Amino acid sequence: MDMMEKIVSLAKRRGFIFQSSEIYGGYRGFWDYGPAGVELKKNIKNEWWKTMVYEREDVVGIDASIVMNPVVWEKSGHLTAFTDPLVECKECHKRFREDQKDTHEHNDWTEAKTFNLMTEVLLGTTEPKELSYLRGEITQGVFVNFKNVVDSTRVKIPFGIAQIGKAFRNEVTPGNFTFRSREFEQMELEYFVKPDEKESKKTFEDFKEIRMNWYKSLGMNTKKLHFADHTPDKIAHYAKYATDIEYEAPFGWSEMEGIHHRGDYDLKSHDLKYKDNLTNVEYTPWVIETSGGVDRATLFFLIDSYTEDGERIYLKLNPKIAPYKVAVFPLLGNKPELTKKAREIYKDLKKSMVVTWDDRGNIGKRYFAQDEIGTPWCVTVDFDSLKDNSVTVRDRDTGKQERIAIDKLLNYFQNRLDG
Ligand code: GAP
Repeated sequence: MDMMEKIVSLAKRRGFIFQSSEIYGGYRGFWDYGPAGVELKKNIKNEWWKTMVYEREDVVGIDASIVMNPVVWEKSGHLTAFTDPLVECKECHKRFREDQKDTHEHNDWTEAKTFNLMTEVLLGTTEPKELSYLRGEITQGVFVNFKNVVDSTRVKIPFGIAQIGKAFRNEVTPGNFTFRSREFEQMELEYFVKPDEKESKKTFEDFKEIRMNWYKSLGMNTKKLHFADHTPDKIAHYAKYATDIEYEAPFGWSEMEGIHHRGDYDLKSHDLKYKDNLTNVEYTPWVIETSGGVDRATLFFLIDSYTEDGERIYLKLNPKIAPYKVAVFPLLGNKPELTKKAREIYKDLKKSMVVTWDDRGNIGKRYFAQDEIGTPWCVTVDFDSLKDNSVTVRDRDTGKQERIAIDKLLNYFQNRLDG
């Protein structure tokens, strides 16, 4: 089995990611997150929000709507310029993005045509219905609220607006599991600065470092991360210059996050300005953007943490993003006195962290399952626990077991999570 097959199989077997509408054969480019996947994804988003909003003084958040007045997309240039070059195979009439021609068996192509990626929706009750769009990037919701945020808060340039949410693209060739989907989530910061080449370049460089360090601090393999600057044929219509953080996936170096210098493109398009209250000078700020894909980060954290150690498979996820921090078991599922004690511990820990419970099968099978989910610590209540009020804590990565007093457990896990 190749690496991607192993990941797709583990993702399904352990409840991370399922095909959308699987019982009806799935739906190309759409995916569902299961009980473990939703926790992993949520933890990634929370860590992002913590770093990009809560730990800073100069960033506020918003949550804009997915469907917006279609004029937004006219002004932002997406209706004309948000396109991919599309080619059609003359033999089998399948359509591909031009850069993916070499993934196909035939080699006789039509000329490339531009294909717009915006997903259309029809609204209203009277015919003809009103043509609108699902947002192709979450970003425009920030720009159209620029004045609202400035007027309703105390932000002053330089400052940022952060947002996490769904975006939709009518991708020509969705593929590589969740990597290229038609519905996906983005986590973005739009950071507004004075229109100054030197200052904006410095901000761009600072954010490159902040974003790269974020992936590294959550445990991603440094050797599998690099920057790839955008070449003129790749750069988006709104960007002055840009770079990607790429991850070396089993299918090659692949974009995980884009960092863009958007200049004054967007605020100018929407005819928005900023007034400096001290000098009364009005100007159009420039924008430095960090735009990460939540689903791509989730996929790459899964791939990066996948570890085989002989027969044992485990996800070496940083405990901060692991779906469950702790699994609690009674040594035997059919001994009420063990179950009673284990459930007390489970309920108590649950007040402070995300904890899971398992009393099926034997202890070996439970360790096997928790390893594949990436649970950092397993707690077993055994017959000694009833006498000495301590439990066995088993570490996912080393397999080592320690005896810990029940009344010290919470502290023990909190320290390890902070460490
Ligand atoms: N606001 C800027 C923007 O949208 P982008 O480079 O087009 O820039 C940013 O997208 C990020 O969104 C990408 O780096 C990627 O992580 C994610 N992304 C884009 N298209 C995607 C798709 N079809 N499926 C999954 N994630 C996608």
